[in-house]
Amino acid sequence: MLDVHDLCGGYGQAPVLHNVKMRLGRGETVALLGPNGAGKSTLLAALTATLPVRSGRAEMSGHDLIGMPSHRIVAEGLALIPEGRHVFAPMTVEDNLLLGSIRLQGRSAAAVRSRFEYVYDLFPRLAERRLQRTGTLSGGEQQMVAIGRALMSAPRLLLLDEPFMGLAPMVVQQILQALQVLRSTGMTMLLVEQKLDIALKHSDRAYVLVKGRIVCTDRSIQLAARTDLSQLYLGSG
Ligand SMILES: Nc1ncnc2c1ncn2[C@@H]1O[C@H](COP(=O)(O)OP(=O)(O)OP(=O)(O)O)[C@@H](O)[C@H]1O
Ligand SMILES: [Mg+2]
Repeated sequence: MLDVHDLCGGYGQAPVLHNVKMRLGRGETVALLGPNGAGKSTLLAALTATLPVRSGRAEMSGHDLIGMPSHRIVAEGLALIPEGRHVFAPMTVEDNLLLGSIRLQGRSAAAVRSRFEYVYDLFPRLAERRLQRTGTLSGGEQQMVAIGRALMSAPRLLLLDEPFMGLAPMVVQQILQALQVLRSTGMTMLLVEQKLDIALKHSDRAYVLVKGRIVCTDRSIQLAARTDLSQLYLGSG
């Protein structure tokens, strides 16, 4: 589904990503773990045309995403749920979702309607609140809007940047349940997380990014059993 080869990039002259290699198979949930400032969000920015890449490739179904304009990236089936959600507070839930459908391939009224149904089935809470201003929703509900908005473009690969940040444990469980449904229906997901336990429990494989380099990768179950992992992680700060 996605093959990242030796990706290097950064802001201005400062390099952040160093020869990042990563592969996601169809239907896999892969965790991208790393401490604060490791470059996780920078990697997602590189994949979604918001960061110029110095060298390397990122192939999705054989097409290189690097250098592609963002609307083509969405058309390829990639959708980002950004860190901090970035929902439009003054707009209703429904209008926020509608924005996500703008780049829906073959955007007929029927196609948009069926995406709304899909999102409202996954998050019935949003259906109840569809005319409410998004800024007045709880943090968890806003995260649901952010995920729902990404799903409106009918993606094949979801990039989730720390979707549980700042949420109460019960709300985290609700979001996890929705991700579980997506996983069971074959969605491919890259789950960016700082917390090892939650990410390893809910992914098939994981990559650990420290200071812009992938320092280890394995099946999540194997990584969870490693005793040196948090040391590697914590010692990196
Ligand atoms: N717009 C920017 N301009 C310059 N440097 C930046 C910019 N955004 C991030 N950086 C730097 O790039 C490095 C990686 O940041 P990034 O946000 O990708 O980390 P992260 O792994 O997502 O961290 P967190 O878990 O805290 O979100 C950091 O050193 C950060 O200071
Ligand atoms: Mg980040």
